[in-house]
Amino acid sequence: KCSLDAAFKAHGKKYLGTASDRGLLSSGQSAQIIKDNFGQLTPENSMKGHTTVWHSQLPTWVSSITDKTKLSEVMVSHIQKLIGAYKGKVYVVNEMFAEDGGFRSSVFYNVLGEDFVALAFTTARAAGPTAKLYINDYNLDSPSYAKTKGLAAAVKKWVAAGVPIDGVGPQSHLGGTWPISDVPAALKLVCANVSECAMTELDIKGASASDYTTAVKACLNKEKCVGVTVWGVSDKDSWRKGENPLLFNQGFKAKEAYNALCDVL
Ligand code: XIL
Repeated sequence: KCSLDAAFKAHGKKYLGTASDRGLLSSGQSAQIIKDNFGQLTPENSMKGHTTVWHSQLPTWVSSITDKTKLSEVMVSHIQKLIGAYKGKVYVVNEMFAEDGGFRSSVFYNVLGEDFVALAFTTARAAGPTAKLYINDYNLDSPSYAKTKGLAAAVKKWVAAGVPIDGVGPQSHLGGTWPISDVPAALKLVCANVSECAMTELDIKGASASDYTTAVKACLNKEKCVGVTVWGVSDKDSWRKGENPLLFNQGFKAKEAYNALCDVL
């Protein structure tokens, strides 16, 4: 019915993308749907390339390091290699916040303390000066939630201190605790102290047409919001499979939410 990416870009935005992986691209109908509709791709799992520093899906030899110098070296060298190899295409720190707005317990925070953030970002900036460096996290979907407020305050502090953070990416796994109507105000808060922001992993429980248009319009109406990445193509392959949260059904057919986006964009 439309190219979502082209329609979104016509409003001055950078991309409307999706997530996929090697296996999914060579089976089913994802590849054609992606070519027809999306202008950016996040590797959903292979190399976990949407992030360079994350507490999860981490090899045990890294999560078991207790020595500060050793962990700094390992983190720095990983960032240098990844950002160097995929210049301009990768994010930096994923899910470092806890639900109360403070730091999540992770090998990076536990061993290196808060300084790991500045170290990660300065290393990334040096390794790939044109790469967009993002802080990515979930449950940033309501302006009144402690985690949203904690992240906004921390980002403000780091940016003021010169930490090279380009953007914040609210993942936007929606349809859980907060009403979708909170999304525009939440986006305003998380985008406040950085030069750009993006919804990085959008999916919505039940995928109602009005929920999708509310979420995508929140980015559309926020000048700093440069892009939206929908977290997968078909409900069949979604990590929230039981909730049918995507734009294409289990048979790869465009859903009502897809048509609604074509209409509003
Ligand atoms: C998820 C993938 O979609 C799943 O296939 C995998 O089993 C677990 O990871 N936040 C993130 C993503 O940053 O990397 C996660 O992706 C979803 C939550």
